[in-house]
Amino acid sequence: MNAIYLLNGPNLNLLGGREPGIYGSGSLADIESSIARRAQAAGIILTSKQSNHEGDLVGLVQEAGRQGAGVILNAGAYTHTSIALRDAITGSGALVIEVHISNVHARENFRHHSMISPVVRGVILGLGAMSYELAFDALVQIMKEHKHKTVSRIV
Ligand code: DQA
Repeated sequence: MNAIYLLNGPNLNLLGGREPGIYGSGSLADIESSIARRAQAAGIILTSKQSNHEGDLVGLVQEAGRQGAGVILNAGAYTHTSIALRDAITGSGALVIEVHISNVHARENFRHHSMISPVVRGVILGLGAMSYELAFDALVQIMKEHKHKTVSRIV
């Protein structure tokens, strides 16, 4: 299925007003509409969700995995703490690209470790809203390659 989930975790609903020196002045709605435009142009069904609750994000990753959809995941602070999200990724087999707006490695030590990086397909960070756009383009490319491989195996 040509589907992508754009998932944003805690406090990302505050983008635009939240620490603009770190996260910029663009809102989450700006990011979601930029990805929606790309999805429409690429013929991808896009589901965009933001939640401040870990369990919601776990459920959404599982849902994406069941559907064979790709996932652009900015787990916010859960990145650094959530074994549950990591298990949702491995357990559902979801194809996930982890993104961050800020360069977490140039920030506090507690942001340097990601629970999910070892189990995602790739990580894009520090590029502002562009992190999401690059993740989208990468997912589309990977999903295309994956489809070709599956088809050639059947033939
Ligand atoms: C973030 C980085 C996290 O450390 C932080 O908790 C966030 C946002 C980012 O996009 O830069 O909420 O994921």
